[in-house]
Amino acid sequence: MSSGDPFRGRRPRIAVLLGSGWAPLAQRVADPLCLPYAELPGFPATGIAGHRSELVLGRIGPHQVAVLCGRRHAYEGGDTAAMKGAITMLAAAGVELLVQTNAAGSLDEAMQPGELMMLGDHLNLVQQSPLVGESGSARFVDMRDAYDPALRAQAQGIARRAGITLHEGVYAWVLGPQFETPAEIRMLQTLGAQAVGMSTVPETILARHAGLRVLAFSLLTNMGCGLGAEALSHAHTLAVANDAAPRAVALLEAVIAGLEL
Ligand code: HPA
Repeated sequence: MSSGDPFRGRRPRIAVLLGSGWAPLAQRVADPLCLPYAELPGFPATGIAGHRSELVLGRIGPHQVAVLCGRRHAYEGGDTAAMKGAITMLAAAGVELLVQTNAAGSLDEAMQPGELMMLGDHLNLVQQSPLVGESGSARFVDMRDAYDPALRAQAQGIARRAGITLHEGVYAWVLGPQFETPAEIRMLQTLGAQAVGMSTVPETILARHAGLRVLAFSLLTNMGCGLGAEALSHAHTLAVANDAAPRAVALLEAVIAGLEL
């Protein structure tokens, strides 16, 4: 590291974590300063196709942002706290809001591939926590309103004005990396989830523990296994995500630029 201030004088208020398909948002950052994760203490090494490992500091609309291009997933080695160092450091630097993005499978016929869903809540089906090993009463995080209701309302207003459909629903976190079976998809529907994916929930828990507000968006890349005709693969996820990316990124940019914290 070349200086005592890893963020080089930048003071981001909003961190944006880009998942599969959302990478083009990084090109929308004004006055960008790109820092490889390798130069940032606590940031993870990532190894997923379609994910870079770089932090882009700059501006979106009126807000100073830190855009995380790439996350390390729990399925890459079993560590649910892989993003802990990054989130802790962002919080210490003054970040107040974590905006997360991911690709997910839809469990609801009303939400079709290529469309967007904002997380209203989640199911931690992995039943693991990145907070295991923490001490003190702060580890007993209140997960009600994990996805900030006031900011969700703002995001819905911005989506409406932009003419972009933004569904809202419950995201079920599964470990992966294999996709679900048809029976598992039926189980998730019964449990009340509208989308399923392999990320996001650990970072939401870490962010709430660090005192950040959270918003999260899923780009729905497929119907859950057995609900649609297509065979699932990472290449299919990326192909649909890339097709839908312009609309997804336009919405995300408008939401971030328009938020009042
Ligand atoms: N299941 C889990 N994760 C996913 C899916 C899915 O169907 N699609 C994209 N990420």
